[in-house]
Amino acid sequence: MALSLKFNEKYIDKYIGSDEITAEIIKHKQLFDDGYACKIGPDDRKGWFKVDNNADENMLKRIHKVADKIRSQSEVLVVIGIGGSNRGSMAAVECLKYAHPDSPEIIWAGNNVSATAIERVMDRIGNRSVSVYVIAKDFNTVEPGLAFRVFRQYLKQRYGDEYKERVTVCGSEGKGNLSELSQKYGFGFLPFPEEVGGRYCILTPVGLLPCAVAGIDIDVLVQSARDTEKYLKTADAVNNPAVRYAVARNLLMKKGFYVESMVVNEPDLEFFARWWLQEFGETEGKIQECIYPDYYVNSEDLHSIGQYVQQGRRFITETYLRCFKTHPDKKVPSSDVEDGFGYLEGKPYDSVNRAVYNGSLKAHYDDGVPCLEFICPDNPDEKLFGELFYFFLFAVYMSANYIGVNPFNQDGVENYKKNMYDLLEKFTKK
Ligand code: PA5
Repeated sequence: MALSLKFNEKYIDKYIGSDEITAEIIKHKQLFDDGYACKIGPDDRKGWFKVDNNADENMLKRIHKVADKIRSQSEVLVVIGIGGSNRGSMAAVECLKYAHPDSPEIIWAGNNVSATAIERVMDRIGNRSVSVYVIAKDFNTVEPGLAFRVFRQYLKQRYGDEYKERVTVCGSEGKGNLSELSQKYGFGFLPFPEEVGGRYCILTPVGLLPCAVAGIDIDVLVQSARDTEKYLKTADAVNNPAVRYAVARNLLMKKGFYVESMVVNEPDLEFFARWWLQEFGETEGKIQECIYPDYYVNSEDLHSIGQYVQQGRRFITETYLRCFKTHPDKKVPSSDVEDGFGYLEGKPYDSVNRAVYNGSLKAHYDDGVPCLEFICPDNPDEKLFGELFYFFLFAVYMSANYIGVNPFNQDGVENYKKNMYDLLEKFTKK
């Protein structure tokens, strides 16, 4: 099986040749062989490497059962979680939900501590029937912890003791964790796999349940991820697009390109770019010599940061995701107002979007911006998302190994938390 995703490295040729990428892979053959065997990094975080570890047929059945119950009882599912816990499902749901208008709406909460934001969630729910899905690996993160409190109270007020029927939690087994609460208070439960860290968990119940509730075909998505896993694990390193991408981006960094920005031209893909940013930012950002990931949503961002990319400091690589949602019937309408846009009359909007994409890529490349490109089939669907998810999980793992960081921890995040806890303790003592 071939991937539908194609990696194009030709627009970095002013800085790196394909032969250099190949030579670098051959030079580090042992490292990549170890990566293929998932030898690098602590063993207790490697469960994601094999899709079937956490999304085999039995687990998919279990997820479907929970999703069917939620779909039958609620018009809205509030997903409470933050960071790695919700960005994967957010990426797929916010892009694919439009194909399933009759499915429950997914509303995201517990990803901030803003009182206003939580009010907005309540307003959006209105009188509609609602369930909640709470994701927190060890249930010690403040944002989902507080949001769960608020929603327990809210659901109790609306549904009385029956509210438990509307709560599903997803966490590790163990004392004080969500599994214990589910047993004690009768909430539904799905496992947050012990051996999978937050940002590697999209292909587990953590990420798949919200997708299933939103009407996304998780069987197709997971099968596509399995196929991608097979492809990437059997391709030799030199011809493996995920390995070539991991090496290309870091060779560019060594030439001074310390920022890599993903570029999407479909606003519905913004949340995919945010997932990608989480993967690379939290996985690699632990040493000085690492890439800062960012993303642009064009054409809008061409009218702001695009100026900087074109002529500002030359330290940005762009990674284009050539992926369009097409609407051939949507054409620029005629007009009896002399507005100066008559030259576009009758043209499909799609061709304008493609012209923006091709025009900006060429302008940036011509001016010396190295541009990587992933070419995808039009109209992203479950198959493409399964591919994208596994592809970039594999790629970030290879990239982190290549620059020599532990791909699975995020100790730095604890520093701000310590300050926050100190401040909150002072606050309560007053
Ligand atoms: O990748 C990670 O591990 C993090 O981004 C976590 O997912 C995030 O901090 C949320 O953690 P938790 O599920 O424990 O609330």
